Amino acid sequence: MTLEDLAGHTVQRFVHVYGRQPRWIAAAPGRVNIIGEHTDYNGGFVLPMAIERYTVIAADRPVRDTNQIQFDSTICDKPATLDLARPLKPFPKGSWVNYPIGVIAGFLARGLNPGSFDAMIHSTVPLGAGLSSSAALEVATATLLEAITDRKLDPVEKALLCQKAEHDYAGMPCGIMDQFISVMGRENHVLLLDCRSRKPELVPMSDPSVTVLIINTNVKHELTYSEYPARRKQCETAAKILGVPSLRDATADALERVKGKMDEVVFRRARHVIGEIERTVHAAEGVRASNWPTVGQLMYASHRSLRDDYEVSCKELDTVVEIAESIGLKGGMIGCRMTGAGFGGCTVALVKTDAIDAISKKLAADYKKKTGIEAIIFVSRPAAGATMIKTDGPSRSFVRACSCASLPVPD
Ligand code: GLA
Repeated sequence: MTLEDLAGHTVQRFVHVYGRQPRWIAAAPGRVNIIGEHTDYNGGFVLPMAIERYTVIAADRPVRDTNQIQFDSTICDKPATLDLARPLKPFPKGSWVNYPIGVIAGFLARGLNPGSFDAMIHSTVPLGAGLSSSAALEVATATLLEAITDRKLDPVEKALLCQKAEHDYAGMPCGIMDQFISVMGRENHVLLLDCRSRKPELVPMSDPSVTVLIINTNVKHELTYSEYPARRKQCETAAKILGVPSLRDATADALERVKGKMDEVVFRRARHVIGEIERTVHAAEGVRASNWPTVGQLMYASHRSLRDDYEVSCKELDTVVEIAESIGLKGGMIGCRMTGAGFGGCTVALVKTDAIDAISKKLAADYKKKTGIEAIIFVSRPAAGATMIKTDGPSRSFVRACSCASLPVPD
């Protein structure tokens, strides 16, 4: 589904629920990380791209000013009402509405009060599949609030505001990768982000002979909420023993020298991070030079390290990567690895464009045979970051041509 189609469906739902056309439509993409996993909170490098899967929010002022914000959604549980007259606080843990509330809290903390509005949220980013559905929701909300409050934030500040929303309101101590790429993605580019300096560098990736394939294992092990913070702590412990501010400042040699002073598990966690930062920088050079076999080998090495040293993979992710390796470069498979926090979700593969159909069929069939589960497989070009699809009033132009506002209303 294109972004315009998705926006059209969101408008239809908005009209159905609220009985009028929305005044604003904001969109933000999910992401896939080519390489650089669990490096962002260690000040390292990441290499994600935005994908052609989006969260869209359509909104309008309510008919009467209620000092309330209404959130409805096609993807999650019940609608939610937010009373702006009361101090904001998170809904019960796990509630989807905590992401937008956290973002609203960030705007209020900057003296930017959006006032009442009614909103409808719709998304094609699969939930909990490691493709940053939460960052897409946060960044779409922030993009909407920029339009409502008529105040454009600096992109870095916007991404950090969304990250803070996730920490404070969803209780997830994530790094900065997902929000940065959802804000800063560019068509036909991956983003090499230095998470220490927060300096983003767009790297062109438009070689038509290579395509990004995303394989959703359709499994989600509920481990991320406990294991992710545990990994962060282990990395901090390693950095402390190494006497550096973060693992970005450590080398493989320095790690070897302190091996005896470290718990074996902490040692392996640090070995993953130090190696992964190096692999990410090399992979970015490989993308720049269209040196695909090298990028592919780095992806496989990343997966092995995440599986054995960082221990965030699972048997379904490993199965996909094993099938990919069996297809090999001769069969058009360049490289494959788990992507995102881990414990289920997706793998990302680079494949020769002319082999997509054969590879997709083989992956789906072999994965089903080995696990009994249907994978969902799709391609994506590197997409643009968050955007306003429709803004109100003649003084604010349509940023993107949109035919959706005139679509018929379902009954
Ligand atoms: C999640 C987090 C990111 C990053 C990845 C692992 O997606 O939100 O900040 O740490 O896991 O690379």
